[in-house]
Amino acid sequence: MRRYLVAGNWKMNMGPAAGCQLTAEVQDLLKGRALKGDVLVCPPYLTIPAVSEIAKGEPVLLGAQNCSDQEKGAYTGQVSVDMLKEAGVQYVIIAHSERREYQKETDDQFVAKINRIHQAGLKAIFCFGEVLGERKEGRAEEVVRQQLQGVLPKLEFANAYNTVLAYEPVWAIGTGETATPEQAQEIHAFTRGVVSELMGKEVADFMRILYGGSCKPGNARELIGLPDVDGGLIGGAALKAEDFVGIIDGAESGQN
Ligand code: 13P
Repeated sequence: MRRYLVAGNWKMNMGPAAGCQLTAEVQDLLKGRALKGDVLVCPPYLTIPAVSEIAKGEPVLLGAQNCSDQEKGAYTGQVSVDMLKEAGVQYVIIAHSERREYQKETDDQFVAKINRIHQAGLKAIFCFGEVLGERKEGRAEEVVRQQLQGVLPKLEFANAYNTVLAYEPVWAIGTGETATPEQAQEIHAFTRGVVSELMGKEVADFMRILYGGSCKPGNARELIGLPDVDGGLIGGAALKAEDFVGIIDGAESGQN
C-alpha cells in the first residue's frame, strides 16, 4: 500500500566529485533491478548540480537537506526552493534534529519552508524525534505529539504524497544505537494515529513514515519490515555504496 523510501542524508559530506562517484556506484549496484520502492540521495547544496547530472530518477532520486523559508532576495547564504527545483531536486529534508539544535530552527520556520516546498510542487521530509533525556523521562510520545502538532495543522497544501515523515530519535543518530523494533513500531504507530487525528485517516494510511538513526544493512530488514515503518533516512551508512544498497536490499525484503 505504501512504497518504501530509502533516503540518504549525506549531511556535510561529499563534494561534487566524491558525490558523483558515490551516486554512480549506487546506480551500478542497482542496475537492471526493478525496485518496489524509491531511492533518494540528499547531497549538500554545492554537490547537487553535479549529482543531478547522473541521478535522473533511474532509480536514484535527488533531494536537498534544507531550503530557505523566503522566496528570494537579500538573504545572504540562503538557497531558495525555486533554485533547488531548477537543479532537479524533488524532495527537501526539513527540521532535521541537527538544524533544530545548531540553527535553533522553529516550528514557524518549518511551516514556512514546507509550504514553499509544496507550492513549488516538491515533496518535504519532515523530521521529528525525542532526545535521550525525554525518552528516559517517559516523555517520547508527548514530545513527538508536540512536534507534529506544531507543524502539520498549519501546512496549507500537505497531503499523503507530498509529505513524508521521518522519526529520528536523537539518541540513535550517529551513535550506533538504534531504536529496538518495539520502540520504533510503537512511535511509528503512535505517529500515524496523531496524523489521523490532525489530517484524517486516509492521509494517515497513505503517508510514509521513515525511521532514522543508525540504520545499517544488518538492521534494515527488521526495522523497515515493521508494519508502520515505510523506509529509512540514512546518515553514515549512506556514504558507502555497498552499505546504502544493503539497506535498500533490506527494505526490498522487509517491505510488507
Ligand atoms: P545515522 O544514520 O548516521 O545515525 O544518521 C541518521 C540521520 O540523522 C539521518 O538524517
